[in-house]
Amino acid sequence: MDTKKTGFNSKLIHSGAVEESMGSAVSPIYQTSTFKFEDADQGARRFQGKEGGYIYTRLGNPNLDDLATALTDLEEGYGAVVTSSGMAAVNDVYMALLGSGDHMISHNAVYGPSRGIMETFYPKYGVESTFIDCSDIENIKRSIKPNTRLLYLETPANPTLKLTDIEAASKLAHEHNILVCVDNTFCSPYLQKPLKLGADIVLHSMTKFINGHADIVGGAVIAKTKEILDKLVYVMKNVGFNMDPHQAWLTRRGLKTMAIRIERAQENAIKVAEFLESHPKVKWVLYPGLDSFPQKDLVEKQMAGPGAMMSFELKGGIVAGKQVMDHVKLALLAVSLGGIETLIQHPASMTHAVLGQKERMEAGISDGLVRLSVGIEDVEDIITDLDQALSFA
Ligand SMILES: Cc1ncc(COP(=O)(O)O)c(C=O)c1O
Repeated sequence: MDTKKTGFNSKLIHSGAVEESMGSAVSPIYQTSTFKFEDADQGARRFQGKEGGYIYTRLGNPNLDDLATALTDLEEGYGAVVTSSGMAAVNDVYMALLGSGDHMISHNAVYGPSRGIMETFYPKYGVESTFIDCSDIENIKRSIKPNTRLLYLETPANPTLKLTDIEAASKLAHEHNILVCVDNTFCSPYLQKPLKLGADIVLHSMTKFINGHADIVGGAVIAKTKEILDKLVYVMKNVGFNMDPHQAWLTRRGLKTMAIRIERAQENAIKVAEFLESHPKVKWVLYPGLDSFPQKDLVEKQMAGPGAMMSFELKGGIVAGKQVMDHVKLALLAVSLGGIETLIQHPASMTHAVLGQKERMEAGISDGLVRLSVGIEDVEDIITDLDQALSFA
């Protein structure tokens, strides 16, 4: 069946590249490092690109192609690479598209290491960067230089949930021949399709909603054109960013239920956000599904739903944050997000504790900020758990 023509849910289940064998309903795992050739001529033809077929798993493997094909269909791109982690995907983009003398612009609250590695490691190779609040398109405009090659967005950003208008940012970037990459980890293609909104590249930490079961680490980059894809594939193969076949197989399995997982988590998240917003110990809640969300119009414009991620501020600051963390019973006190289990963390005492108070405030990480990834448990149990933990705040 041509899955390019089917609906999103059918693509989730049926899209892929592994040939069925022996009637198995599920694709087998090709857990092999290498592939044998029929004879010397076939080996030569494959190495010279005159014949398709596999050579060596770092260069290609059916399970990696299976997952990459499904992601390409879901994001409506030209092609994809799948990588050993989300950070491998980020670096695949940086290495493929930036070189000595180039400049890139990004949001100041992107995932920490996506910013950290650009500021500490890439300057060694002559790459410059500017991190600003991309939710204001004028800021992007002011930061463009003659050598700007890449606009790297993450929307919603983490954990401030600030949105960037992908369509407007892409239009501006393209007027200056700048490519646009969007980290779509928080939304998944179920809630947001950056390529359709004008971006050139989409990136995922598949560790999150795509796999959804907190049992693998993985990444993916989906390109709009062959030209971009070829550059991404070259780096993936030669730097060795590839996934392992078993990791790819597990991710492909997790992906099948992504839409119903997100629907359920989102349904829960709306109720949890309303509960938190009315709680006396909570100062404010940032969740794209609430009427109080400052960029409600942009949610309507570019997202198919508000998702399952939220942040809220405790009136009691750092001490209250730690108390809530110490008393949750159902929610797991853990970083990461997008799994079937509710995860909670307190950035000021955990992920962002290394930053000074001033730097944290600039990045929007206030003392009492709590980040919540709502899972698919019974919503009454999630709310009961938060309510009893909040009594210690
Ligand atoms: C938005 C975002 N992008 C990228 C990454 C990096 O992904 P990974 O941890 O799979 O390397 C993360 C990880 O938390 C993330 O939240």
